Amino acid sequence: MGNSQFIVNERVYGKTATGEVVKEFTLKNANNIEVKFITYGGAITSIMVPDKHGHFENVVLGFSTLEQYENDPGARPYFGALIGRYANRIAGKFCLDGKEYALALNETPNCLHGGLVGFDKRIWQAEILQQSDEQVSVRLSLESKDGDQGFPGNLSVRVIYSLNNNNEFTMHYQAQTDKTTVVNLTNHSYINLAGEGNGSIEHHRLQLFSSHYTPVDKNMIPTGEIAPVANTPMDFRQSTHIGRHIRDDFDQLFKAIGYDHNWVVDGYPNESARPAAELYDEKSGRKLDLFTTLPGMQVYTGNALKGNLKGYSGKAYRQCEGIAFEPQYYPDSPNHANFPSTVLKPNELFDEKTIYRFSVVA
Ligand code: BGC
Repeated sequence: MGNSQFIVNERVYGKTATGEVVKEFTLKNANNIEVKFITYGGAITSIMVPDKHGHFENVVLGFSTLEQYENDPGARPYFGALIGRYANRIAGKFCLDGKEYALALNETPNCLHGGLVGFDKRIWQAEILQQSDEQVSVRLSLESKDGDQGFPGNLSVRVIYSLNNNNEFTMHYQAQTDKTTVVNLTNHSYINLAGEGNGSIEHHRLQLFSSHYTPVDKNMIPTGEIAPVANTPMDFRQSTHIGRHIRDDFDQLFKAIGYDHNWVVDGYPNESARPAAELYDEKSGRKLDLFTTLPGMQVYTGNALKGNLKGYSGKAYRQCEGIAFEPQYYPDSPNHANFPSTVLKPNELFDEKTIYRFSVVA
């Protein structure tokens, strides 16, 4: 299917171990930027963008088969996946309206990225939306039952992936519940602007529009402090090579084995998406500008990638092979009254957006 500007294709990607069909969608714009994703976890498997010589490469980490996405290698990488109900960590339980909810623990004592069977392990329904001259879109949807992984309320989730001719890829998240609950949705794509499998992102320049971050304890749970980044290796307010301070003598970097923290994105709340990050690879000239409506963003340097996973083009992935930007509410917000609230009530709409804008600096 396609008009003069856009192409959207749908095909069968594979069948899960239990025989369920997984589809793959391809969105392509007039500049030949191409995004592929699958209905398993709504995972983005490839984003093809040109370098300064017009050479296209896939700039996200991923696998090449459904079997690899389905396999649980222990420390799950969540490549490109949609994450819910609660992205990032909750310290095992939380209280809501005087009632305690105990969650499925997949990183004892924490519930990480939604629990044992998070939205990354679910098959999403997909529908191509009517095309316009502005953009091409596919809507993914999922129903999560009351009690799923310990969370209250039947939750209906929709994520619309869209691509336009300004080379912007938008992820639009919406959710509704029938009982008061907590929600935190994100996508877990790892970016490498030199091309997936082409080595470390330590030489990429990163700018974060954040004056503060949330330090963590030994379990990677926020201490509750909102700490200034000034005079620490967490300060990316000026564009800085990612590897410049990653080995500094700084307690937070030892705890996380690199960067794996929530930055407080300046300017919240704001109706429209505001700048959160700018990532630039001088060698290829590829640049990514990231905008979001969300209050925070986890930045993760793939610290758990140990070379035992064979990536999309067959190469082993190691730490710093990609950088994950996870725009989201802060980790463990249900247990921190001073953090922006993740509570969603019946008749309310969870409605957030993240935008990747790709460009080339010659
Ligand atoms: C977390 C990491 C975790 C990773 C799993 C990230 O969002 O912050 O601590 O290891 O996801 O891939």
